[in-house]
Amino acid sequence: DKIHAKCRGQTYPRSEQKRFIIPDDKVKWSAPWPEYNPPEYTSPSLKGQPWADLEISEQFAPTFNQMERKDDHVVRNRVSYMGDYKVINGYPINPVGRTGIKGRGLLGHWGPNHAADFIVTRWLRDRVNGQQILNEDTKKPILQFIGIQRRHGNEWAIPGGMVDAGEDPAHAAQREFLEEAMNSQELDPKSLEDLMETVQEMFDRGITIYQGYVDDPRNTDNAWMETTAINCHSEHGCLEHWQLQAGSDAKQVAWLEITKSLNLYASHIDLIELVANHHKAHW
Ligand code: RP5
Ligand code: MG
Ligand code: MG
Repeated sequence: DKIHAKCRGQTYPRSEQKRFIIPDDKVKWSAPWPEYNPPEYTSPSLKGQPWADLEISEQFAPTFNQMERKDDHVVRNRVSYMGDYKVINGYPINPVGRTGIKGRGLLGHWGPNHAADFIVTRWLRDRVNGQQILNEDTKKPILQFIGIQRRHGNEWAIPGGMVDAGEDPAHAAQREFLEEAMNSQELDPKSLEDLMETVQEMFDRGITIYQGYVDDPRNTDNAWMETTAINCHSEHGCLEHWQLQAGSDAKQVAWLEITKSLNLYASHIDLIELVANHHKAHW
């Protein structure tokens, strides 16, 4: 697969900033390239945000490749799922390769920015007899997953979002799913409690399908997305009596048929492929 397909070659998201153009054979740091001279860009929107890091200086030098703790609890996870990353002159280096931009762009943290994604699946079934529907070519049953359309950029994606400081990725996955696909922020307390119970039950039967780097369009040479992706297969239709409703960062939500031709945000199609293979579904 092409590396850094989504985070090089174009204008940086939500800005006018151009990336330094990188040919395919120069993405890996192991390819020598003395001419490489990417511009530096950190979005002005990060300034003054309490959740974001500061510019690196003598006063602000994070302990990279480590869990940052305060009074015994983790406040920031600077460990990468990709193993130890390099730190050069105080700046963490993207473990996959060049992106054509230095700084943090839109990302709040130097190094890994941890997210969590929640992939809810079910079999596509015949409405009348409830039988699984098979793909004509592969003769394999077809899966559906709950997708959202992102408010920023309009692309369809897996519901998910950033892990808050000190939060467990498992919690973040459920919280973001509830916010984006079930509009939990608008539910009355009793319904929310019932829904959270349903989602927790689903989650307990779920599996971690992936932990690692995401080819996110916001990635830079010094800041990048990583995710924990959880797959919950809804065999018993446990979400059926809940209505999907877009909320928070999502403007639409729907059950989408899983095929390799889906066009999804970042490298979410790779996560969906892992899910399809896991369930021996059509791909
Ligand atoms: C992707 O960005 C992750 O896989 C996750 O889906 C998402 C998190 O960012 P926001 O949805 O908060 O923008 O890299
Ligand atoms: Mg969100
Ligand atoms: Mg999100």
